Amino acid sequence: PLPRPYAVPLPVPEVAKPVRSAGGADFYELTERAAEVEVLPGLRTGIWGYGGTFPGPTIEARAGRRTVVKLVNQLGEPTVLHLHGGHTPPESDGFPTDLVAPGASREYAFPLEQRAATLWYHDHRMDYTGPQVWRGLAGMFLVRDAEEEALPLPAGERDLPLLICDRSFAADGTMLYPALEGRPGVREAYMGGVLGDVILVNGAPWPELRVARARYRLRLCNASNARTYELATGGPLVQIGSDGGLLAQPRTVRQLRLAPGERADVVVDFSAYKVGQQVELRNLAGEGAQARVMRFAVDRDERDESAVPARLSTVEALDPGKAKVTREFEFSSGGMGWLINGKPFDPKRVEARSRLGDVEVWRLTSDVAHPVHLHLDHFQVLTVNGERPQGPPAWKDTVELREAQTVEIVTRFTDYRGRYVLHCHNLEHEDMAMMAAFEVV
Ligand code: C2O
Ligand code: CU
Repeated sequence: PLPRPYAVPLPVPEVAKPVRSAGGADFYELTERAAEVEVLPGLRTGIWGYGGTFPGPTIEARAGRRTVVKLVNQLGEPTVLHLHGGHTPPESDGFPTDLVAPGASREYAFPLEQRAATLWYHDHRMDYTGPQVWRGLAGMFLVRDAEEEALPLPAGERDLPLLICDRSFAADGTMLYPALEGRPGVREAYMGGVLGDVILVNGAPWPELRVARARYRLRLCNASNARTYELATGGPLVQIGSDGGLLAQPRTVRQLRLAPGERADVVVDFSAYKVGQQVELRNLAGEGAQARVMRFAVDRDERDESAVPARLSTVEALDPGKAKVTREFEFSSGGMGWLINGKPFDPKRVEARSRLGDVEVWRLTSDVAHPVHLHLDHFQVLTVNGERPQGPPAWKDTVELREAQTVEIVTRFTDYRGRYVLHCHNLEHEDMAMMAAFEVV
């Protein structure tokens, strides 16, 4: 039986503390280890966690301030850390074969020369990202900057990271993942990706948060292996940010679609409700229990001086007219796996060489749905099946290609030369080789 919804309070992951700060940099240590935690009320669940927790601690960093994370691997399997959405030099970007062996450690240096944004970090081991993230290797990483802090947006405990993912459990609380013995990937019924029947927010099943009649900033992150959500409260959601930080202007929507890997920053004003009212965050793309995500219980009046200004930031539109090249990437199935341009991932093959600083147009096409993620730099969506998307320009690092779609994006890789990857963020598709390396030269 599934746990009762809204029976546990929403946990907020601890904010990691630097072990030291020196020379303008903050140093963190993240130890990956196995632990037993209570995910479902009254049951023990074995997880793999950064710091032994699921999700891992939230890292709060400042734009332009060097953040160094020492990853200590105390698991029995190799791992590799990736900062999703990070503008990171190649040696610290977590290339899927740059493994940290069991018992070993290594430092990842993040210069964070980028704007404020809601990022997340997770395991990225070639062929095994799906099972390793499923077991708990994921956490939030917030980049803050002065431009954003000058805005009167909800802050403090009204600025909440919400890491959303689905999992399945056996009756004794053990996490279930249909992994193949000694082989990467999943087969048959799971080819489309592994879905769980329990929706977790910050590691708790269908939790509840007590809120004041005030505005809250919800940093929604879809950390699921394969589930896409269509989030709605029944009231307006004021989207202020996307994968790559603030939008130029807020945009009010009734529902928000989030594919695996995508983030959205929204402000919800609970002063529209009375004390005693409950507001469900629902998933319109799910049915039954999977149509629920969490609940807000409005339980008090509180002063609220926050506001959502009509202008949030400047988002420079990349000009596709300046593009030096247009590249094609075809996402399709083949054989026993998933392919990009007809080929399975080979870490030694470079699928595209992009020149540092050049604007490029990438045309992405799909057979079935694939959330496509590029490392290194954020991009902008130009067209979806030939049409301009609605809303103000936004910086994205993951874009959902829906079935049989063509999505054109405009990119520009900056600052770092080297080898990076693009891949499908359906983690089972990724493990089943839907990845390609590109090189910035
Ligand atoms: Cu969130 Cu290459 O991954
Ligand atoms: Cu895919």
